[in-house]
Amino acid sequence: MAEPGTLHDALIDELRDTYDAEKQLTKALPKLAKASSNPKLRQAFESHLQETQNQIARLEKVFASLDEKVRGKHCDGIAGIIEEGKSIMEEDFDDTTMDACLIAAGQRAEHYEMAAYGTLIAWAQAMGHTEAAKLLQQTLDEEKAADKKLSGLAEGGINQGAADAAHSEDEEPVGAGSGARKGSAKAGRR
Ligand SMILES: [Fe+2]
Ligand SMILES: [Fe+2]
Repeated sequence: MAEPGTLHDALIDELRDTYDAEKQLTKALPKLAKASSNPKLRQAFESHLQETQNQIARLEKVFASLDEKVRGKHCDGIAGIIEEGKSIMEEDFDDTTMDACLIAAGQRAEHYEMAAYGTLIAWAQAMGHTEAAKLLQQTLDEEKAADKKLSGLAEGGINQGAADAAHSEDEEPVGAGSGARKGSAKAGRR
């Protein structure tokens, strides 16, 4: 019977999964860019595409540093996140709302990657693979920066623009007199 796998095997497995995830993202990011109306958002997705291509090359160095062949293994997690993003792009939203939704989709992917790289770094460090850990840390920093950039765009106007569009047609501003809200907000509260 084969011996049970070790943390080293788990590390290689996780690297293959992440390598495949990055490859899937190089196909998804151009779609997110194309669907963006805000030019800064489009640019953010385009520049992260370039980073992602670099990250693939960097992962190849990580495999080499561990004397492993470069290989991917289908990443179901990122496939699901990309699938959800595709469904959103098929919805009929106003432009700014679509941008807000594209940011949400993008941030799901970034957080998935941040979790993956965080684990890879911790495992590599625990086993003394310092070169691999160093390379992986560079990518984690890029993922965090990409996530932060998306938050900045969302909070820097896109969410508010979408919120204003949501409330412009049918509502008086909240607090504009006691009759402003249809159906008393107090009903059902004590
Ligand atoms: Fe990435
Ligand atoms: Fe990323």
